[in-house]
Amino acid sequence: MSTLLVDNIGELVTNGIGADSLGIRRKAAVLVEEGQVAWVGPSAYAPVADRRIDVGGAAVLPGFVDSHAHLVFAGDRAAEFAARMAGEPYTGGGIRTTVGATRAATDGELRANVRRLCGEALRQGTTTMEIKSGYGLSVADEARSLRIAAESSSETTFLGAHVVPAEYADRPDDYVGLVCGPMLAAAAPHAKWIDVFCERGAFDIDHARAILACGQAVGLGVRLHANQLGPGPGVQLGVELGAASVDHCTHLSDADVDALAGTAHSDGFGTRTVATLLPGADFSTRSPYPDARRLLDAGVTVALATDCNPGSSYTSSMPFCIALAVREMRMTPAEAVWAATAGGARALRRDDVGVLTPGARADLVVLDAPSYLHLAYRPGVPLIRQVIRNGVPQ
Ligand code: NIG
Ligand code: FE
Repeated sequence: MSTLLVDNIGELVTNGIGADSLGIRRKAAVLVEEGQVAWVGPSAYAPVADRRIDVGGAAVLPGFVDSHAHLVFAGDRAAEFAARMAGEPYTGGGIRTTVGATRAATDGELRANVRRLCGEALRQGTTTMEIKSGYGLSVADEARSLRIAAESSSETTFLGAHVVPAEYADRPDDYVGLVCGPMLAAAAPHAKWIDVFCERGAFDIDHARAILACGQAVGLGVRLHANQLGPGPGVQLGVELGAASVDHCTHLSDADVDALAGTAHSDGFGTRTVATLLPGADFSTRSPYPDARRLLDAGVTVALATDCNPGSSYTSSMPFCIALAVREMRMTPAEAVWAATAGGARALRRDDVGVLTPGARADLVVLDAPSYLHLAYRPGVPLIRQVIRNGVPQ
């Protein structure tokens, strides 16, 4: 049983109990054993280990937990992005373009795309990534999307209700029947979660409720795309169904914020339904940013994720999302870093990632900087010096 000591850490973000919300320790070391954190403490008292990495006073934090990404697709939509930057609005209509390209792709092409994006994310510090289907929208294409996603992550989400595909355009009720019936049956063995794009132009509240309830009945956890393009019932539907997370939350009413706050844990540590904010999507669709401060001040647990997809947010960079959240969403750097690590873990109902405390998975990011503050302070700079995942230096 070999051990690894990550030593001489100038600033260690643990997200555990500490003097501040990030549980920061200085002049610290982390002992890793069998892929887990075995010990955290002052460098001066560090145990002897088989191997030692001296990070030279750098900052170390938990690997990012990206709890919302759509990686199983083919092609890109750069021209759609250019049109938007020239004034076209984003409506989600381009999803059907990607559905066409995805259906035409081979398994190998889809697998290569997922691996490429997971690798890109890993190099930017992401050690846990949720992956959705949603560009297949047929029984066979949703099942294979999830099968391929499951090769790269245990956090897989069935999003057959992304949009109504063209061949069902004039009979959406039939499509909902397909999603709840044969498509769910084919998808469920490869999925942990179910998601619906609950939005005007996609699925209304009745369809969304029906689909999510079918998923729950076969043991899938609920999460949903809500209140992205305008105000709507999605957030409150998520609360009603006990969703782990409601994602986007760009347009929230006071009642939406109150509903989320009402899911508070009895221990006082945040809410059962997390608000996952996706500033990359607001950036790339030139939308307003959600007001994270309003949620945080109401006691709502906030996560940050990339929403990596070829339409609304073609970034795999959690540092970019942190910088946007601090600059545009009234989050402090500490809140944003917590939301990108422990917050993402809460959104996936995980307690073994997003923290660096004994027993957690040994997912560590070493920064080329003395403090986590630099993630927001030095936007666009490649600050991820080294990533350790499951105790293994990458
Ligand atoms: O989260 N809003 C729905 N789904 C994705 C966008 C998908 C696309 O445009 O291809 C999102 O933004
Ligand atoms: Fe999304």
